[in-house]
Amino acid sequence: MKTVITYGTFDLFHIGHLNLLRRAKELGDYLIVAVSSDAFNAIKGKQCAIPDYERMEIVKAIKYVDKVILEESWDQKISDVQKYDVDVFVMGDDWKGKFDFLKDYCEVVYLPRTEGISTTQIKEEMKGSM
Ligand code: CTP
Repeated sequence: MKTVITYGTFDLFHIGHLNLLRRAKELGDYLIVAVSSDAFNAIKGKQCAIPDYERMEIVKAIKYVDKVILEESWDQKISDVQKYDVDVFVMGDDWKGKFDFLKDYCEVVYLPRTEGISTTQIKEEMKGSM
């Protein structure tokens, strides 16, 4: 069995997120998604519209997703890869090269992002229409 892992905030879940999760699952048999906690986002200076436990529930309900965990720090990736015996680490290509250090532990794949959509963009558009 080939295990795939990916990380993200997944706030205001949108089609770019869905496409990423579908393509991630296509790379293996079992997909683990690490959803950034509100506390970790605060460290990154990022504020979510949807709280972490709800973002986890939403991601868990996606049919491509087999397991959801919380991402609580930058440095948990190596231990997650070892703990869950991960074969493939996947991120969108906005992160290209940033996680190459994981190549010592598993395959690292950067998938092209879906054009024209992001959580930031949705938030900006909603602000503009208020
Ligand atoms: N992603 C993607 N295509 C998009 C948006 C996101 O493939 N249009 C991917 C990201 O590359 C990442 C995952 O989805 O691997 C989770 O991204 P996240 O940062 O939660 O979504 P964004 O919409 O990029 O959020 P933000 O605008 O807050 O950065």
